[in-house]
Amino acid sequence: MDIYILAIETSCDETSVAIVKNGCEVIGLSITTQIDIHAKYGGVVPEVASRMHTEAITLVIEDCLEKAHMKIEDMNAIAVTYAPGLTGSLMVGVEAAKTLSLIYNLPLIAVNHLIGHIYANNLESKMEFPLLALIVSGGHTELLIMEDDYKFKRLGETMDDAIGEAYDKVARVIGLSYPGGPSIERLAKEGKHNYQLPQPVMDNTYNFSYSGLKSAVINLVHNERQRGNMINKADLAKSFQDVAVDELVRKVELAFKNTGIKRLVIAGGVSANKYLKEEMEVLCNKYDATLLIPRMLYCTDNAAMIGAAAYPKYLKHEFSDYSLNVSSSGEIV
Ligand code: KG4
Ligand code: ZN
Repeated sequence: MDIYILAIETSCDETSVAIVKNGCEVIGLSITTQIDIHAKYGGVVPEVASRMHTEAITLVIEDCLEKAHMKIEDMNAIAVTYAPGLTGSLMVGVEAAKTLSLIYNLPLIAVNHLIGHIYANNLESKMEFPLLALIVSGGHTELLIMEDDYKFKRLGETMDDAIGEAYDKVARVIGLSYPGGPSIERLAKEGKHNYQLPQPVMDNTYNFSYSGLKSAVINLVHNERQRGNMINKADLAKSFQDVAVDELVRKVELAFKNTGIKRLVIAGGVSANKYLKEEMEVLCNKYDATLLIPRMLYCTDNAAMIGAAAYPKYLKHEFSDYSLNVSSSGEIV
C-alpha cells in the first residue's frame, strides 16, 4: 500500500507544505518565503516570522493539496517540524498539524528539522548505510555517522558559530544582501584568494570553528576602512569561502581515512553551494566514495524533506500525541 504523508515546515522563514509518497516521491510541494521582508532588517525577525507563518499556513496547505490533486482524507499521516528553530514559528506549524491530525483522525509524526535535511537525500536516491552525514546550515555544522535509519553517532560539531551563520555575518559586513550564503557564492566567482585568513581548527578532531574566521574578516574590513583603503569584496568573498569550505573538506577527509566509510551525504542550506559540491566531489573521487547532495530546491528549508524523514517513523508507528511541544534546540544525538 502506498503511504501519503502531508508534511509541514515552519521552523524559520519559510512556510512550506508537502505531500510525500512512500518517503521518496514528492507529489506536491508549496513554499512561501519571507526572505524579502527579513532582508530589510538584515536577518530573520522572530516576531515577524511567526506572524507571517500564521497568515500563510492555511493558504499553503490548500495550495499544496491543489497542486497534488489530493484531499487531506487521502493522507495516511500528518508530519511536522517540532525542533530546532524559532519557537513562535515552530508553534504555528505544530498547532496546524495537531489540528489536522485531530479533525481527520490521522497519526501525528514529529520530525527534527536537521534529520529532515538529511532525509532530503532520499528524495534523490535512497540512502545506503553506513554513511557520513555532514550538516551545514544557518544554525548547525555537524559531522555524523549514520548506521541505519534514525541511528546516528556524532563525530564532531562546531564549537562556536555555524558555517551558514559565518556566511551571513561576512556578507553583512561587506554590505551584501540577506541571506548571505548565495550572495557570497555569487561574488566569490569573480574574486581571487588574495586575502590571508586564519585556518579554523588545525587539529585532528572532527570539531569545527567559524567564529575566528568570521572575526578575522570583520576586523580586516574595519581596519581597512579606518585606513581609508578600499576592500576588494569579490577577493574577500573568495578568500573567506575557500577557508570555510576547506575546513569541511579536511574534516570529512579525516573521517574517510579513520572510518573507512565510503558514502557521504551533505544536508542543510549551505549544501546549495556549488563550490562546496565541487570540492567534495574531488575529495570523494580521491577516496572512491559516493556523494549525495539534494537538488537546490531540497537543500534549503522545505516540507518535502520533513515528509521523507517522517516515513521511517510512520513504518515504526512512532507517533506523537497532542502533548507534543516545540523546542528551539534539538540535538540529533
Ligand atoms: O537550512 P537552512 O535553509 O536554514 C536553517 O536550517 O538554518 O540554511 C540557511 C543557511 C543560511 O545561513 C544561508 O546563508 C545558507 O544556508 N546558504 C548558503 C547558500 N544558500 C543558503 N550558504 C552558502 N552558499 C549557498 N549557496
Ligand atoms: Zn534548515
